[in-house]
Amino acid sequence: MRSHYCGEVTSKDLNSNISICGWVHRRRDHGGIIFLDIRDIKGICQVVVNPENKAAFDTADICRNEFVIKVTGKVLKRPDGTINVNMITGEIELEAENITLLNKAVTPAFPLDDYQDVNEDVRLKNRVLDLRRPEMNNRLVTRSKITAEIRNFLELNNFNEIETPILTRATPEGARDYILPSRVHPGSFFALPQSPQLFKQLLMMGGLDKYYQIARCFRDEDLRADRQPEFTQIDIEASFVNTQDIISTGTEMMKLLLEKFVNHSIKEIPALSWHQSMRDYGCDKPDLRIPLKLVEISELVADEEFKVFSGPANDKDSRVVALKIPNGNSLSRGQIDEYTKYVGKLGAKGLAYIKVNDVNDLENGLQSPILKFLNQNTINSLISNLDLKTNDLLFFGAGSNNVVNLSMSSLIKKIGKDLNLYSFEWAPCWIIDFPMFEKNKEGNLTSLHHPFTMPKSSLDELANSPEDVIAEAYDIVLNGYEVGGGSLRVHNPDMQEAIFKALNISNEEAQNKFGFLLKALSSGCPPHGGIAFGLDRLVMLLTDTTNIRDVIAFPKTQSASCLLTDAPNSVDEDQLEELFIESTYTEED
Ligand code: AMO
Ligand code: AMP
Repeated sequence: MRSHYCGEVTSKDLNSNISICGWVHRRRDHGGIIFLDIRDIKGICQVVVNPENKAAFDTADICRNEFVIKVTGKVLKRPDGTINVNMITGEIELEAENITLLNKAVTPAFPLDDYQDVNEDVRLKNRVLDLRRPEMNNRLVTRSKITAEIRNFLELNNFNEIETPILTRATPEGARDYILPSRVHPGSFFALPQSPQLFKQLLMMGGLDKYYQIARCFRDEDLRADRQPEFTQIDIEASFVNTQDIISTGTEMMKLLLEKFVNHSIKEIPALSWHQSMRDYGCDKPDLRIPLKLVEISELVADEEFKVFSGPANDKDSRVVALKIPNGNSLSRGQIDEYTKYVGKLGAKGLAYIKVNDVNDLENGLQSPILKFLNQNTINSLISNLDLKTNDLLFFGAGSNNVVNLSMSSLIKKIGKDLNLYSFEWAPCWIIDFPMFEKNKEGNLTSLHHPFTMPKSSLDELANSPEDVIAEAYDIVLNGYEVGGGSLRVHNPDMQEAIFKALNISNEEAQNKFGFLLKALSSGCPPHGGIAFGLDRLVMLLTDTTNIRDVIAFPKTQSASCLLTDAPNSVDEDQLEELFIESTYTEED
């Protein structure tokens, strides 16, 4: 239908006869001459319609924003003074010979020619219109290019793309399952996969050697800005590998993506142990662009009278940390109060601070509500241990590990952003040596990664002190976001059974839920391991947005619904009857 994309007509096409198709982005009537900006996926081209060409002029006259048209005509140089150097097509215009109205459009729900910040719900309800915006078009095109690059990389490295079932049984990844009733087996349910974890392991047992899949995963979990109930993983598994093999493959892939899509080259990706990361940053997804670290001061303040510090300092599940903000003295009292409120929302009972007005005048040079509670030796040690300088600010967090880690790691990220402390543009890192288990609120052990992860310990150590066991697991973090995670897997049935036991999964339950895996493990299973990258999160970061919905064509809202199609929704009574399902839901629930 067309000879050119709108956004690709340039001076090299001068005097050619061409045709373009697209949407009327803007229509301007300049006293007898009509200008139409026509938009397609590649950009915008200005069409000029002279009244002498009556047929074309009459069609242009009835065109409104978002009408779909085809224009044929001649490419001319724009008159002097009207050249737009900011547009690829800014030197030319298309003089219309013929305009075909391909389709009309109702007045758009929000303007695309003068796009202002439109509420996201309105954008999601009118997603078709929203997708026409160049930013959205571009992000989805980049997503396609990123996916292609990854496929190409994995194919070149001998990985085979293999599909795994969507209608399946539960695979534990820590979230709730989406379940689907079976009509043919009344009372039985499929679960949508939280990941292809077990199938990819079975493929290794099936001799497929190296697998990948751009896999859709489904998790019914509390949503956040970087989570969706339905998301895409670049899922990878390989046989006869160790942790270093997988880390090398992941590093190469990340290097390639950073180079190709944000023009950033890195030599290597540093690795931090989980323990080190929790100690220094209070979390397992540190944003290493921000040069701020927590310093453990529990020992230093253990004998203080100030119970706010000495209490947690003497409790094994608690900690006291200091956070130095170089030149942070410029923060006003009001800003410090805001940060205190911020950590308060995350459970912290307060945010003690010391402002260093003059490090050489210890009597009058320090300003803080807690100085009176601390003994002079402690203050001296703080100054020397933290290498405090005039104009520095110290924050303190004291309390249970969970609260201090959550509040202080969030504070680092917030202050880093507010004060623009980023010292690198891209800071990927590996987190390794995760604990195998953590305790949930009820005090029971749960897997930190998933129950198929290989421990670094023996069967005995697993049975006797499971909480000390370290896993052969690794995450990759980019600018504070977890963009991938994986592990070596258990490949022997005894170890797998011991892990189920540590997790308090009875033999009967293990057989019932994972009997097929245990059977396959005893049929000659190669050592294997893998990783899954979160494609949506990767694309989000590489296209410079912090909203995962901006890189998914038809995303769900924070409350896991689709505003465009109104899903989820009720179904016909007949359908429910066929499935032997009756809803017990009432308005009060
Ligand atoms: P994991 O659960 O860590 O590992 O998931 C891997 C990566 O997927 C992304 N991700 C998500 N992205 C968007 N929305 C979500 N709700 C969401 N949940 C996870 C993250 C995460 O790092 N089977 C294992 C992988 C393995 O062991 O090989 C797994 O699924 O970027
Ligand atoms: P209070 O004795 O509660 O008035 O606290 C004295 C100072 O210590 C205030 O600046 C509080 O913000 C701070 N503070 C209180 N509890 C904590 C805590 N758990 N962690 C860090 N600072 C705290």
